[in-house]
Amino acid sequence: MVQVTFIEADGTRRAIAAVVGEPLMYPARNAGVRGIIAECGGSAMCATCHCYVIAAPEGALAAPKQDEADTVEFNAHEPRENSRLTCQIVVTPALEGAVFQVATGR
Ligand code: FES
Repeated sequence: MVQVTFIEADGTRRAIAAVVGEPLMYPARNAGVRGIIAECGGSAMCATCHCYVIAAPEGALAAPKQDEADTVEFNAHEPRENSRLTCQIVVTPALEGAVFQVATGR
């Protein structure tokens, strides 16, 4: 298991445990992190799993693929340089200690 933290819109910090190899959206949603809705079920189409990467170990995150980048650009509320879709982040041991802020606007 890998421990990561989500910061909800009101500033609440939620530490969650994620299984290596699964998309990060699942443990966040299953833990009830507010704002991780995942309407499309992880298909990189809805942007309701949008988060900002606040802190992550060097090299822990692969660059977003084109479909993720397109969805962030066209569907996400307030996209930023550090925007990611949590459904497209595969949990690896390198993510230990990473911090994500849930994007607001939904
Ligand atoms: S769950 Fe829809 S884009 Fe991530």
